[in-house]
Amino acid sequence: MYKIENHKVSDAARVDSHLDEAGYHKLYKQSIDEPDTFWVEQAERFLTWDKPWSKVHESDMSKGEAAWFIDGKLNVSVNCIDRHLDKRGDQTAIIWEGDEPSDSKNISYRELHEHVCRLANVLRARGVKKGDRVCLYMPMIPEAAYAMLACSRIGAVHSVVFGGFSPDALRDRINDSDCQAVITADEGVRGGKRVPLKQNVEKALKECPNVHTVVTVKRTGGDVEWHEHRDIWYHEACAAVSTDCPPEIMDSEDPLFILYTSGSTGKPKGVLHTTGGYLLGSAMTHHYVFDYHDGEVYWCTADVGWITGHSYIVYGPLCNGATTLMFEGVPTYPDASRCWDIVDKHKVNIFYTAPTAIRALMAQGNELVTKTSRASLRLLGSVGEPINPEAWEWYYHVVGEMRCPIVDTWWQTETGAIMITPLPGATDLKPGSATRPFFGVEPALVDPEGNELEGVASGNLIIKRSWPSQIRTVYGDHQRLIDTYFSAYKGVYFTGDGARRDEDGYYWITGRVDDVLNVSGHRIGTAEVESALVLHDSVAEAAVVGCPHDIKGQCIYAYVMPMRGITPSDELVKELKAFVAEQVGSFAKPDFVQWTPGLPKTRSGKIMRRVLRKIACDELDTLGDTSTLADPAVVDELVANRLNRA
Ligand code: PRX
Repeated sequence: MYKIENHKVSDAARVDSHLDEAGYHKLYKQSIDEPDTFWVEQAERFLTWDKPWSKVHESDMSKGEAAWFIDGKLNVSVNCIDRHLDKRGDQTAIIWEGDEPSDSKNISYRELHEHVCRLANVLRARGVKKGDRVCLYMPMIPEAAYAMLACSRIGAVHSVVFGGFSPDALRDRINDSDCQAVITADEGVRGGKRVPLKQNVEKALKECPNVHTVVTVKRTGGDVEWHEHRDIWYHEACAAVSTDCPPEIMDSEDPLFILYTSGSTGKPKGVLHTTGGYLLGSAMTHHYVFDYHDGEVYWCTADVGWITGHSYIVYGPLCNGATTLMFEGVPTYPDASRCWDIVDKHKVNIFYTAPTAIRALMAQGNELVTKTSRASLRLLGSVGEPINPEAWEWYYHVVGEMRCPIVDTWWQTETGAIMITPLPGATDLKPGSATRPFFGVEPALVDPEGNELEGVASGNLIIKRSWPSQIRTVYGDHQRLIDTYFSAYKGVYFTGDGARRDEDGYYWITGRVDDVLNVSGHRIGTAEVESALVLHDSVAEAAVVGCPHDIKGQCIYAYVMPMRGITPSDELVKELKAFVAEQVGSFAKPDFVQWTPGLPKTRSGKIMRRVLRKIACDELDTLGDTSTLADPAVVDELVANRLNRA
């Protein structure tokens, strides 16, 4: 057993912090007991409004409905750029670190303003207007942030699709939200390799009849296919327009963006976030959780294709006038010291990453860390999956040299912003625990029947009241929002996660309780991988489960039943893996593919996933009762041929 110790935040961190323990409790209590007073203060403090709201908040959780700062007007790009110009026009807004260590640049708030206004004018000139959807399929280059902010400036709704998604996945996302413009780059560059983004866009657009404009950033100068009336180069178009772009004044509840995420069933859901509440949530949490102070350099290693990149590379930090670092490459290129080299090069003070990256770097040994200085680091963060105490301790001792508190932040695409987290200087830390709720967040644990559990308990994690950055709908399908999040337990939001609460009231997230996998911090629905597999001509049926993996957190185990007449082979396994990469993206490739003549089903035809999970994890002692299966012999066959043996 690993001994879990309390870590008191060091005095050095406490001196610098925005809140102490009593301060946290006081503000938290106010946020729960007098929510209107609390939220008015925060909304006035963190955002600049063109017109104040008439009512702070209205919600009906049983219908998944929420509205915040009703009738309030504001523009997100103005909040993230224009209002900072007087005081910090020359301050660096974005530090961009390219894939090659020799490649970096700083973009000031004034330059950011110019880039964003130009691109916004380009989009306007192409007919993109308030409410239209624009798809972004971009590498980690500053233009990705410009594009998000340019959309927000003219009231267009962006839908960023992670650059690792395949053309088919991109096509489905473009069509689901009817995006009519796409912003991309000729190629991306990651770890010395090129990613053919524009080529992927071309493949996707063969089946996206409504896209009238593709704006392409020239990143590498690689060859691209070109369509005269549809395609424009970013640099040419931006050079030809004015730097003056009056912002569209938006309603607090106007949509800001759509971001697709995986659920336990069906196709990915377009999570919709709106303007006022989302921006407040991301800015406030960025300020308190990272204890951000003026002039500091803040680095979140996420990709802008995921929610972490939206809230904590772009919107939160820029809204707060921070300097945010954006890294194009991967932590292991040119070698596994890269992150710490970047920390030293740019004097990074706050570093926010995922446990999978921490574990991968930990496996490379301490020397690659200790040979760097890291003296600028003051605070470390973790997000995306449960962090195992070993990785936490390594992060704390080796990377942070016991000087930097770790904020283990629990949240989701749907929550928009951090929900359960320590606040540095205010919360004693326990390795592996996300600790306590952020302001205004009222978590609870319930048993499967929905009874709330008190005190020390384990159960399903729910959120009992609306919060400003809450998901507003699943794009085009509000019923799906209700069914997924607001039906399992009446009148509350169901997270899909399980958690434990300890004697100090700290929360320990134990992971998903549904069929959502978390592979290297990427959220993948088992249903997505299964649908991809069964599309292959050789596959009759497939079932996918997750099993623990030392570095990736979870890996993907697929059981595949071949079509009649198909002979399973290693070649075919390779082909199936490549097929999934083509259908979804290479991050969704199964690690194991086990052939099977049948799947264990109940007499009513339901696949017994519990049994499949146990076999995949090599946990045969706890297979449980299999006598209710239609054909119990299938299990013996699966056990005999299992691939993941301890
Ligand atoms: O299972 C939880 C896990 O990631 C899920 C949300 O994934 P996604 O929407 O892609 O957002 C990831 C970044 C916010 C959650 O349901 N998760 C996220 N953060 C943590 C976590 N699990 C444990 N501890 C965390 N700190």
